[in-house]
Amino acid sequence: MPPNTALGKDLVGLESLTADQLRAILDTAEAFKEISERQIKKVPVLRGKTIVNAFFEPSTRTRVSFEFAEKRLSADTVNIASSGSSVVKGETLVDTARNLEAMRIDMVVMRHGSSGSAQFLAERIPSNVINAGDGRHEHPTQALLDMLTIRDHVGRLEGVKVCIVGDILHSRVARSNIFGLRTLGAEVGVCGPRTLLPAAIEEMGVKVFARIEEAIEWADVLNVLRLQLERMQAGYVPSLREYNRVFGLTRERVQAAPGELLVLHPGPMNRGVEIDSDVADGPQSVILDQVTNGVAVRMAVLYLLAGGEPEKAEAAKVDGAHG
Ligand code: CP
Repeated sequence: MPPNTALGKDLVGLESLTADQLRAILDTAEAFKEISERQIKKVPVLRGKTIVNAFFEPSTRTRVSFEFAEKRLSADTVNIASSGSSVVKGETLVDTARNLEAMRIDMVVMRHGSSGSAQFLAERIPSNVINAGDGRHEHPTQALLDMLTIRDHVGRLEGVKVCIVGDILHSRVARSNIFGLRTLGAEVGVCGPRTLLPAAIEEMGVKVFARIEEAIEWADVLNVLRLQLERMQAGYVPSLREYNRVFGLTRERVQAAPGELLVLHPGPMNRGVEIDSDVADGPQSVILDQVTNGVAVRMAVLYLLAGGEPEKAEAAKVDGAHG
């Protein structure tokens, strides 16, 4: 376990990270981007490290991009899921992790349905723990790739007005974005039906918009969230059609923006519900850039938690040193 890394032992969330730490991750990701553009997408940065990807909830983008990031940095990786592991026989999270530790692993990347599970694990095992989404709590690498994408397209984060639209109540992506963006000086708004906004959301330092038209008038960037139908009991919205009519991001609404609006969505999308295909596939959408940036951000987090120094990222790509 590296005792003293730029990020500490684990990445559980963005709430506790400083502006310098956030910038170190984004700048390191910038340096690692070009690895994925090479014909041979592999550097020796994490040679000899063993990483377990434990995904106890479904995932496409996060799981695959962590695995690509690990492999492109030459780590050895193993994937486990609830189905097919002894979790289905009732083995606890800590027992599962301790058995993996007994095989001498270095890092665990975990997605789990329970808020706080990543912190719980981080306090109980010596390996680095990276939160790939825990319940409604945080999804730090998603917010980091969102921030990198905004910085790429706008040129900065400071002073940029970002409105997160939709199901804020169930969203770990929203929470991580609010923490990270505000720490780096962006202004953050949220917009959605009152039933899908947490009580006292204003205390997180965000502006609240009841109407999407007002949010679009204000924002430079919209980050449109998925309606998390699997986490909802009936009653949050009258119907999906009604949600689309009142809060859906349509071409007409985007065209009414006073300036050039940048459109993000963390995926997976409910096309025709929170976002129309005209917008998702349109010129203002950077949704696939987010996915590309996800690999670089995850490489950066892995490198820094392994003890890599941000300013040595370029050299590490050549000689494989961790720092
Ligand atoms: N954005 C996101 O977390 O997507 P996945 O659930 O596919 O990982």
